[in-house]
Amino acid sequence: MPVQVTIRLANSSDYHIYDELYSADDKADFFTMEERLERRRQQFAEIDENRQVVLVAEADGKVVGAVQLAIDSFVPGAGMVRSLAVRPSHRRQGIGSRLMDAVEDLARQRGLKALVLLVRPDNEAALAMYRKRGYTVVSREERTDEAAMYELMRLVLVRPSR
Ligand SMILES: CC(C)(COP(=O)(O)OP(=O)(O)OC[C@H]1O[C@@H](n2cnc3c(N)ncnc32)[C@H](O)[C@@H]1OP(=O)(O)O)[C@@H](O)C(=O)NCCC(=O)NCCS
Repeated sequence: MPVQVTIRLANSSDYHIYDELYSADDKADFFTMEERLERRRQQFAEIDENRQVVLVAEADGKVVGAVQLAIDSFVPGAGMVRSLAVRPSHRRQGIGSRLMDAVEDLARQRGLKALVLLVRPDNEAALAMYRKRGYTVVSREERTDEAAMYELMRLVLVRPSR
């Protein structure tokens, strides 16, 4: 039977929600657990400044996934999807897709014209998911602080009228 999932908005004190969403094999980023937590704490503080929205997926009273939407990004008019993650035991059940549906709806409601995200070129699961949803690679970005390369992907939400 498919798992019953509800999606809610997180608040700024919820930055521990990511604690059990990654496995050791995940290729999400290069940070240590401590660095990740501190980075999350800073990102979640942006919720109170209306610069960030975090969606949390819950099933049976526990957190099974999350995704962040930064309202501003380095691409004018585009929001940035960050840190999509689903609890390893709950993957391939459509939860990541539900979170992406919700984040895209939210972006449209906020009047954003496009969404961008960064994904590692070896993250086959995420790349497959984003491609299937219509995201296309626009460039390759080097993040010097992480010594890593990422694909910059974009989804156009609003097409200019002719
Ligand atoms: C990427 C991730 C969020 C996907 O979440 P999920 O809930 O398993 O995704 P879904 O079940 O909604 O899958 C949607 C589609 O994505 C693709 N996909 C998902 N996982 C995949 C995998 N392991 N291999 C290939 N394609 C995959 C498939 O096309 C899938 O559709 P299908 O199941 O009908 O074939 C999850 O694997 C994860 O948390 N990974 C670790 C963190 C991460 O890498 N985040 C992305 C950072 S950019």
